[in-house]
Amino acid sequence: MKFELQHTDNASDARTGLITTDHGQIKTPVFMPVGTCGTVKGVHFSELRQQVEAQIILGNTYHLYLRPGLEVLRKAGGLHRFNSWDRPILTDSGGFQVFSLSGIRKLKEEGCEFRSHIDGSKHFFTPENVMDTERVIGADIMMAFDECPPGQSDYGYAKNSLKLTQRWLDRCIKRCAETEPLYGYHQSLFPIVQGCTYKDLRQEAAKFVADKGADGNAIGGLAVGEPTEVMYDMIEVVNGILPKDKPRYLMGVGTPQNILEAIERGVDMFDCVMPTRNGRNAMLFTYNGTMNMRNKKWEEDFSPIDPDGCDIDLVHTKAYLHHLFKAQEYLALQIASIHNLAFYLRLVTDARQHIEAGDFVQWKASIIDQLGQRI
Ligand code: GUN
Repeated sequence: MKFELQHTDNASDARTGLITTDHGQIKTPVFMPVGTCGTVKGVHFSELRQQVEAQIILGNTYHLYLRPGLEVLRKAGGLHRFNSWDRPILTDSGGFQVFSLSGIRKLKEEGCEFRSHIDGSKHFFTPENVMDTERVIGADIMMAFDECPPGQSDYGYAKNSLKLTQRWLDRCIKRCAETEPLYGYHQSLFPIVQGCTYKDLRQEAAKFVADKGADGNAIGGLAVGEPTEVMYDMIEVVNGILPKDKPRYLMGVGTPQNILEAIERGVDMFDCVMPTRNGRNAMLFTYNGTMNMRNKKWEEDFSPIDPDGCDIDLVHTKAYLHHLFKAQEYLALQIASIHNLAFYLRLVTDARQHIEAGDFVQWKASIIDQLGQRI
């Protein structure tokens, strides 16, 4: 994998770049739609390509390991062959999902024991078997196995957790070096910076990760209940230390405003369930603010869903989408998910253009308040 920095903003830490993988190139800043189980919920791959224009999607090791399972994925020839997505894929390691989804889990030096949220069966993830699993899935970018500690962790817990994540990272790197990709194309391992909201832990974590010389680096453990200003401070602290010539990925964040603030602080890659999850809940993101499509005010509004949006936004009216939500039609969830993903992708593409034009900071300031309004 290669990363070329293309443009660095004079007035902020924002930058544009180009990641080259064996499944194609990714222009950064980039938003990666979340395809937890090998599908972006409610959105067909043809729509992901043509309407959303997704450059890369995510998969989750935790979910794919449980279902369809490694035997099926291996026989299929990896996730790309299984789901027919031929552009890049990134897999999260399960480090977050075992903690957030699996009710019962036991954390040990060796790894983490957890119960499946599907059938309650017991499983054990270690840095080694997670790397092996990510090899079988075959993503272009594999995330290291980490512990994402609870948002309100005290200093002692956060410090011990970080040490464990660091020992696990060394084991991930070792296992990765000892194993080969299974399907003939390169797979990069991205370490994850943890450390909760403690500046000194974040600094230590960022230095530790920077020393590994990985193809790219991630910031985890944020947007877990801390105030947004604290999250922005942590991003600044970490990005002050992570190498500038490698992509930086902020995991699981966030609102359009969060994404612009993070781009300003030098983040290149994002993923979040918000556009699809909120979309399924009738909430649409636009440059003028958010809309609740269940609201009666749209009942007879025959204007396009979003006049600046993708084809689907122009073809259908607000009144029609309102009707689909009221009637509980599947198409409502599909249209809302496609719209929101296309909006998130447009937001980061516009950010990229403004970074290149040299007016990113002014542009961001002019739209940030508007994005948070309810219309
Ligand atoms: N997704 C959102 N936050 C995190 C994190 O801290 N770790 C992992 N592995 N995935 C995440």
